[in-house]
Amino acid sequence: MRRDFNFWIFMPSKILEKQSVSIDPMMTRPFRLLRTRRDTDDTFTIELMPAEGGSEFAFQPGQFNMLYVFGVGEVPISISGDPGKTNVLVHTTRAVGAVTRAMKNLKPGDVIGIRGPYGTPWPVKKAEGSDVIIVAGGIGLAPLRSSIYHLLSNRSSYGKVVLLYGTRTPGDILYKKELEKWRSRFDFEVHISVDRSIGSWRGNVGVVTTLIPKAPFSASNSIAMICGPEIMMRYTVQELNKRGLTYDRIFVSMERNMKCGVGLCGHCQYGPKFICKDGAVFSFESIKDWFMKREL
Ligand SMILES: Cc1cc2nc3c(=O)[nH]c(=O)nc-3n(C[C@H](O)[C@H](O)[C@H](O)COP(=O)(O)OP(=O)(O)OC[C@H]3O[C@@H](n4cnc5c(N)ncnc54)[C@H](O)[C@@H]3O)c2cc1C
Ligand code: FES
Repeated sequence: MRRDFNFWIFMPSKILEKQSVSIDPMMTRPFRLLRTRRDTDDTFTIELMPAEGGSEFAFQPGQFNMLYVFGVGEVPISISGDPGKTNVLVHTTRAVGAVTRAMKNLKPGDVIGIRGPYGTPWPVKKAEGSDVIIVAGGIGLAPLRSSIYHLLSNRSSYGKVVLLYGTRTPGDILYKKELEKWRSRFDFEVHISVDRSIGSWRGNVGVVTTLIPKAPFSASNSIAMICGPEIMMRYTVQELNKRGLTYDRIFVSMERNMKCGVGLCGHCQYGPKFICKDGAVFSFESIKDWFMKREL
């Protein structure tokens, strides 16, 4: 199956042109690891460049790639970098199993396979002119970070922008330095809460949904973007709905095991939808009948 894409491509011959080309959406391209940064005990961020030359990797906030660790396997991971900086590809991953652990052990200079970008974006266009409330749980901040970069780069297009971020413990907080920087901005409200306070933590304690009742946003003119464990997303949707946000203005990012990533194999079927092709970002309105039903 082939589709036409119009973007900068990486050509082995190092001939780079912006042109309309026919690219196999299943084609894996080699990318070289520039560096790995450890975010927490089990989570790390990798930066990659095309191994065969070329420069740009265009994507929309919220999209994901299929990352292939040679000889181990392939997994879907959201792009966590800045969509405005297309010269480097950034992914933040939690090491949970065979492929993600092998990825954590890669060294600068190692090569992995990338195909993508795939999936639907966060509704950053639809949110223009509205307040934006972002609710992240744990590693869920990674798929939302590209959207935060977009909102901050286009700050005047939005009303209030609020991030509510919850993790199990202070040690699980991702992107600590960046969160500090964001917190110091007058035009971005950042509130963090941990389930369990450990060490010198002086901030909020409690699940992230406890931050919603006081969050400063206009229920009649807001868009919400949520990513985290399904149980957290369920209670977040309930709380936002209590504040008056309707389901069509609440967006969630869903996860299921994937194989093809392009709507061919059926592995990620979710009711009548495929998460890889129709999502992973959905309006809650469009999936409310299947939400919380495992492996539909
Ligand atoms: C669209 C999409 C975007 C994603 N983005 C990110 C991201 O930005 N960062 C990140 O760390 N992870 C992300 N994931 C999850 C990631 O794909 C899985 O953690 C990864 O596939 C695990 O592979 P593994 O071989 O290391 O572990 P496995 O051996 O396959 O699994 C280890 C454990 O994780 C569970 N698991 C595996 N895959 C999934 C899944 N997709 N959803 C829920 N549980 C799963 C398994 O049941 C098992 O308990 C995303 C998933 C999807 C579908
Ligand atoms: S992963 Fe194959 S259809 Fe979604």
